[in-house]
Amino acid sequence: MSLENSPIDAVDVEGFFSLVEKNIGVSLDASKAYLIQSRLSNVVSKHGFAGHTPLLRFLITNPVGDIHWQAFEAMTTNETSFFRDIHPFEILKTTIFTDLIQKRKDARELNIWSAASSTGQEPYSIAILLREYFPELAGWKIRILATDISEQALEKASLGIYNQTEIQRGLSEAQIQRHFIKLPGGHYEINADLRSMVQFKQMNLIHDWPLMPKFDLILMRNVLIYFNQLTKAKIVKRLHSQLLDASSYLILGSSESILFDQAYRIVQLDRVSYYQKR
Ligand SMILES: C[S@@+](CC[C@H](N)C(=O)[O-])C[C@H]1O[C@@H](n2cnc3c(N)ncnc32)[C@H](O)[C@@H]1O
Repeated sequence: MSLENSPIDAVDVEGFFSLVEKNIGVSLDASKAYLIQSRLSNVVSKHGFAGHTPLLRFLITNPVGDIHWQAFEAMTTNETSFFRDIHPFEILKTTIFTDLIQKRKDARELNIWSAASSTGQEPYSIAILLREYFPELAGWKIRILATDISEQALEKASLGIYNQTEIQRGLSEAQIQRHFIKLPGGHYEINADLRSMVQFKQMNLIHDWPLMPKFDLILMRNVLIYFNQLTKAKIVKRLHSQLLDASSYLILGSSESILFDQAYRIVQLDRVSYYQKR
C-alpha cells in the first residue's frame, strides 16, 4: 500500500475538518473522510509531503498559512453550470426583473450579487438573461458582483473560458453562437460585453464582509448547505442588511431554506422560493 493510500487516522481527519470549518465554514463529518484522499493529493505532491497523513499533521500543528488555504480551497465543491436548476432563471425572466425594472426606473441602476459564484456560470447566466430579454436596460448602470472563496474558481471565471462540456451544460447552440467566441482547441470565450458586466472578487463569507453596495438581487445558491446552522444563521442575518429594501430579492439553492429567520418573508412561485425583507 502506498503512503498516499494508507488509511488516515480518525483523529487527523477530525483535526483537519475542524480547521476547515473554523476557516471557511464548510462543515464535514467523518463520512466525508474519503474526500481527503481525492482532493488533497495535489497539495501533498506540490509541497513534497510523504503522504496525506504528514500533510494533515503539518496543517493541524502549524499556524494557518498558504498551504492551509490551498488545502481548504481543495475541500470546496465548485460544481456549477449555466442556468443551473433553470426554474429560478425562469422566474427572474418572467417576474423578478420586470418588477425590479419598474421599481428602479428612476434610479436606472441594478446591483446584483452572485455570492459563491464558483467558476462564473451563474453570474454570466444572469448577464446573458439581461441582454437577451431586457433591451430596455440599455443605458442603465448594471453591476453584477460575483464573489467566491476559491482563487482558482475566480481565475477561471475571470477568464470566461469554458470547454465543450461546460458550455453545453445549460446553453443552447444559439446562445453559444451569440455570446461566445470559439477558440482554437475547442474552448469558448464569453464575449467582451458580457464579461464587462461582471466583476469578480474573492470573499470569504464567514469573515467580515467588505463594504459593498446594497443589492436589488442576491443569489446565494448551493453554498449554505455546506455550513452548520449557526454559521448559516449569521450569514442570512448579514444578507438581510445587504438587501436594498423590501422590494429586493434573495434567491437560494433549491434545497436550501431560511424559514428559521423571521426577518424574511418567503414567496413561492411555481417551483421557486425567493425571500424578501419583511
Ligand atoms: C457548489 S458551488 C455553487 C456555485 C453556484 N452558486 C451554483 O449554484 O451553481 C459552491 C461554492 O461555494 C464556495 N464557498 C465555499 N465556502 C465558501 C466561503 N466560506 N465563502 C465564500 N465562498 C465559499 C465554493 O468555493 C464553491 O465555489
